[in-house]
Amino acid sequence: MRKLVLAISMLAFAGSVAVADPIQDRQALMKERGKLAGQLSKVVKGEEDFDAAAVLATLKALQANAEKFDAEKLFPAGSDKGDTTAAPKIWEDMAGFKAAEDKFLADAKAAVASPPADADALKAQLNTLGGDCGTCHQTYRIKKS
Ligand code: HEC
Repeated sequence: MRKLVLAISMLAFAGSVAVADPIQDRQALMKERGKLAGQLSKVVKGEEDFDAAAVLATLKALQANAEKFDAEKLFPAGSDKGDTTAAPKIWEDMAGFKAAEDKFLADAKAAVASPPADADALKAQLNTLGGDCGTCHQTYRIKKS
């Protein structure tokens, strides 16, 4: 009996994951993005030593994160309501929103394709990548004061 109850509750759990909230999914993806960018920023600031292999791994993780971004799935119509800072502009200009993400993905790929040899080179790449975050957030994210 206990086993059955457990099996049922596990099924219920699997079900709730399958219909996961797109707002939570996209915020989790963004949080990971923030964490990865933060790691690179520490290296640029000299708070952490430049380790080429570790930096490349983080850049690759950023690229993988960008590849997981699926605007249709993560920003379905109606998901502008709720605990979200996604701006209505996303649904007014989905093409522009996707283009902003495409640029970020292209820049992440470019960084992975020519890995930085030192902190200065990483700084230039992080400026580009960070600029992409800022550009998109400025237009497609509501600032909560
Ligand atoms: C194509 C647009 C776009 C790009 C590029 C982008 N973001 Fe975002 N980001 C968003 C949107 C939209 C939200 C709001 C999501 C929500 O609240 O539903 C967001 C939210 C966030 C959040 C808050 C997540 C939370 O817990 O609410 C963080 C952190 C974040 N982004 C970091 C980054 C970083 C770092 C980069 C660049 C490395 C980046 N983002 C690039 C669109 C973008």
